[in-house]
Amino acid sequence: MAKVHYTSLSEKSQFYRSLGQRVAALLEGERDFLANMANVSALLYDELPEVNWAGFYLLKGEDLVLGPFQGKPACTRIGPGKGVCGAAAKKRETVVVENVKNFPGHIACDHATKAEIVVPLVKTERLLGVLDVDSTLPARFDDEDRAGLEQIVRLLLDASAEN
Ligand code: SME
Repeated sequence: MAKVHYTSLSEKSQFYRSLGQRVAALLEGERDFLANMANVSALLYDELPEVNWAGFYLLKGEDLVLGPFQGKPACTRIGPGKGVCGAAAKKRETVVVENVKNFPGHIACDHATKAEIVVPLVKTERLLGVLDVDSTLPARFDDEDRAGLEQIVRLLLDASAEN
């Protein structure tokens, strides 16, 4: 399937509106968190332009452990506060990195990756993990991506039973 290429912010917000509808349709009738994460990572990887990795890390004990994803094989375990994923988990806030070279402690799973966005998964004040989306294009992610992906994470968490 051809990927969408948007040229303006309004096109991008329209893209996320329609992607949100597709996510909601995909999650309808299924409460299993693992199955829903698997399908959301596949949809994001397939639909988002210029993305080389999309997937989840889940909090197990103190570490973030690799969950469902699409893209090249990745680091399996991220220690507390490590990398972009650990920073987003620690702050419980989305972290957008324009160029990973400028992010101290970035964990290079794929040396081609230049930009990252990591959205924490927080349900009823409990941190469950993070969504990580990567790109080979510097500054690929902006506030529209942040808003769009945060909305998709909310849909995922609302649709799924807590594990
Ligand atoms: N680069 C991430 C690690 C995960 S991979 O990119 C899939 C980080 O610094 O947290």
